[in-house]
Amino acid sequence: MIVPLEPSDKPTSQRRIAEGDTVVVYERHDAMRAGAVRVGGVLQNRFGVFRHDDWIGRPFGSKVYSSAGGGGGGGKGGKGGGGNAGGFVYLLAPTPELWTMVLSHRTQILYIADISLVVAYLELVPGCVVLESGTGSGSLTTSLARAVAPHGHVHTFDFHEQRAASAREDFERNGLSGLITVNVRDIQGEGFPEEHRGAADAVFLDLPQPWLAIPSVGLMLKQDGVLCSFSPCIEQVQRACKAMRSCFTDIRTFEILLRTYEVRDGSFKSASANEDTVGPLPQKRKKNCHSRRKLGLYSDEFLCFG
Ligand SMILES: C[S@@+](CC[C@H](N)C(=O)[O-])C[C@H]1O[C@@H](n2cnc3c(N)ncnc32)[C@H](O)[C@@H]1O
Repeated sequence: MIVPLEPSDKPTSQRRIAEGDTVVVYERHDAMRAGAVRVGGVLQNRFGVFRHDDWIGRPFGSKVYSSAGGGGGGGKGGKGGGGNAGGFVYLLAPTPELWTMVLSHRTQILYIADISLVVAYLELVPGCVVLESGTGSGSLTTSLARAVAPHGHVHTFDFHEQRAASAREDFERNGLSGLITVNVRDIQGEGFPEEHRGAADAVFLDLPQPWLAIPSVGLMLKQDGVLCSFSPCIEQVQRACKAMRSCFTDIRTFEILLRTYEVRDGSFKSASANEDTVGPLPQKRKKNCHSRRKLGLYSDEFLCFG
């Protein structure tokens, strides 16, 4: 259950892991994977062998140790833990934020910095109806679903049948089928279906030629609805904004740059190498940053809201 619909489903409620649950196996913030818990199932990683049977009945968030003699003892091996000598992992409840980090990438996806801004500026609250295209890997869709739960709905559209089918399977597995409907449709060619005319609170586009879909978006949105179009290139942004001007007001464009830091005793440095820095970074990194931009390798995306 990736979107808790009952307070007892919340990760913080000490909900216990059961067979069939999806868990996020956390080694470090940059080493996680999702898996379904099965009786008799086994996870083997650099920290050892972990038996699913040992996980069932424990609360989400538990720290679990590899089985003794399971080949563990990796760099971060745990202490104690019921006599096991191996390493450990944490078993986390899947949330939209974690799902974005562990899902299988069938396309480029939106990450949490952009997702946060999208959900906020689309003004999503429980009960909203959202139209989205393309579905891609369903990274954004999962967060949209949580924002509109428990009574709202996300209608997501992709013209790629296999991608749509895989996203549908993911949503089913994560208990989101009641909140998300996946449709196969060429939104740039055909626009959104008539049945949604005037019914959408918000529309999100992540399409190569969003300007082709924007006239249809104008018909789908309620009078005070909001559109967000997400594009990697400024030329796409310019064409999307031009198309928006005919039926939208208050058009704004954002680029989100997430800056993370590692804070340690006695030192203070930016952990990210892809931004224009104002802090005391070595000159070499600044130069690298500018040359990447000139070469067109800089890969931040733009968000236009109307
Ligand atoms: C970059 S992906 C979307 C990723 C998604 N936002 C996520 O966070 O996982 C773009 C998707 O748009 C779909 N697409 C491209 N052209 C389309 C069209 N004309 N109609 C519908 N979907 C389209 C592609 O198949 C692809 O899955």
